[in-house]
Amino acid sequence: MTQFLNILKDRRSIRKYKTDPVSEEHLNQLIEAVQCSQSWANTQCWELIVVKDPEIKKKLRQTVPEQNPGSPAVEKAPIVFALCGKAKTSGYINGEPHLKSGDWMMYDLGIATQNLCNTAHALGMGTVVVGWFDHDMAKKQLKVPPGYEVISLIPAGYPDQKGKSPQRREIESFVHEDIF
Ligand SMILES: Cc1cc2nc3c(=O)[nH]c(=O)nc-3n(C[C@H](O)[C@H](O)[C@H](O)COP(=O)(O)O)c2cc1C
Repeated sequence: MTQFLNILKDRRSIRKYKTDPVSEEHLNQLIEAVQCSQSWANTQCWELIVVKDPEIKKKLRQTVPEQNPGSPAVEKAPIVFALCGKAKTSGYINGEPHLKSGDWMMYDLGIATQNLCNTAHALGMGTVVVGWFDHDMAKKQLKVPPGYEVISLIPAGYPDQKGKSPQRREIESFVHEDIF
């Protein structure tokens, strides 16, 4: 248990990777981490594009603003996951939103992302979620069909840096007892 919590605590966003390719065994485990994710009514609205082609990675980088610290990683990481989602399925019944909060796709993809990133860390790998990019341009480049969105790019590889530990909120500042 402590070991699991330590994996969660020690994971950092990694934006520089060794050039070593990701082993097939590790890649398969990262994919399994997405596969076993929980989701609204088991909707599993995710689609995962595993980008290894240097030309496609280069093009994907062009969708990321230069000011984004994750920009170089999108071109240089040995693998970039493009996490896509099928809109209007999670949180929907018979094509109608079932809940006040509408589409739960982002929620479900967030869980899948965290499973992937924590598993990567447990395997000695590093990842960073890149959410600031031109989503429509990436969608075109990756030939994503209508009805699906590219939600995030997740470069992954073996770390070539130690991630900085950003400050987290104090527990007392967000935990409420019984009522808000
Ligand atoms: C939804 C989401 C979008 C993010 N987008 C970016 C991004 O576009 N570029 C980047 O460098 N990091 C991005 N990050 C990484 C965060 O900056 C990082 O997780 C945060 O600073 C905490 O650091 P840690 O991951 O090392 O704990 C994103 C993270 C999340 C969860």
